[in-house]
Amino acid sequence: MTTRIVLDCDTGTDDAIAIMLAALHPGIDLMAVSTVNGNVALPYATENTLRVLDHIGADVPVFAGAAHPLVRPDLPIPRDILNADNPEFQVAYLDLAPSVTPAQDTSAVSMLIDTFTDPANDDVVLVATGPLTNVALALIAEPRLASRIRRMVLMGGAYVGGNVTATAEFNIWVDPEAARTVFSAGLQEIVVVPLDATHSAPLTRADCEAFDALQTPAGSAAAALLRHRIDQDQTPESLKSEPSAPVHDPLCIAYLIRPDVITSAGRFPVSVETAGEQTLGQLIVDARPWTSDPVNATVALTASADVFRHVLLEAFALDASS
Ligand code: BDR
Ligand code: CA
Repeated sequence: MTTRIVLDCDTGTDDAIAIMLAALHPGIDLMAVSTVNGNVALPYATENTLRVLDHIGADVPVFAGAAHPLVRPDLPIPRDILNADNPEFQVAYLDLAPSVTPAQDTSAVSMLIDTFTDPANDDVVLVATGPLTNVALALIAEPRLASRIRRMVLMGGAYVGGNVTATAEFNIWVDPEAARTVFSAGLQEIVVVPLDATHSAPLTRADCEAFDALQTPAGSAAAALLRHRIDQDQTPESLKSEPSAPVHDPLCIAYLIRPDVITSAGRFPVSVETAGEQTLGQLIVDARPWTSDPVNATVALTASADVFRHVLLEAFALDASS
């Protein structure tokens, strides 16, 4: 069975791996990619997305979206200050050939509205692996979209802890108002793939070698991207059994191919902190069994690295013409 998806992302090294997985795996039909301000400024996210698709020879339309968060002028801490202690982790341009294919003229928000209001697309899953600005803008411009998007899978938040602050994960923190808009919109099904799940299934240097050994454009690119992530990972070595790094975004795609990649999950009322002095951008997962707040999301808690690497290897063995 093939799942049709639209991918909204902020490419980004792990978004790049998610794009290749979605474009190449026979279990996914990648209809369109939209880009958003996040890991890098919008023009870089769009160019990087085009580079990845050109690199693997995939013919997928790319739509540029929001250059700024929904209500804030910028990230809560501007990107250059935020990245000052680890400037090599998030480079502006991915190390791939400049794109030759242009982005579409239509905006990402228009594309999302057009796609999801079309009854022929009832089966299409929306996957978001960046800040939720584009999705929020689409829901605000066309509130009927909330009942038209039948299923959404997103990478963001944490059940426990954070990565950009002690309590917040990057995608939600970049645009907390957008994330709150999405979680309160009344979508029928939201699956959240948070840090808890992605950190439980890190990839290793052996995976880099396995990707390289495929001798495909996707395999080589994935190996280089993963090596970079492992080299730049800031988790103390004492907390790892071997050098490794979480590769967050493709876990959303892997979940649509092999739901058993998620090994435990719970259903909770989920919201987002938009005002906290120390908790801005925190995903609020209400685990109280007696809560009267309505459940609005499934939250993945743990994942299988073995299933994850199996799915990635299946995809990266292929090229876009096969
Ligand atoms: C998320 O934030 C970005 O850095 C990654 O691309 C991923 O989507 C992880 O917190
Ligand atoms: Ca991302």
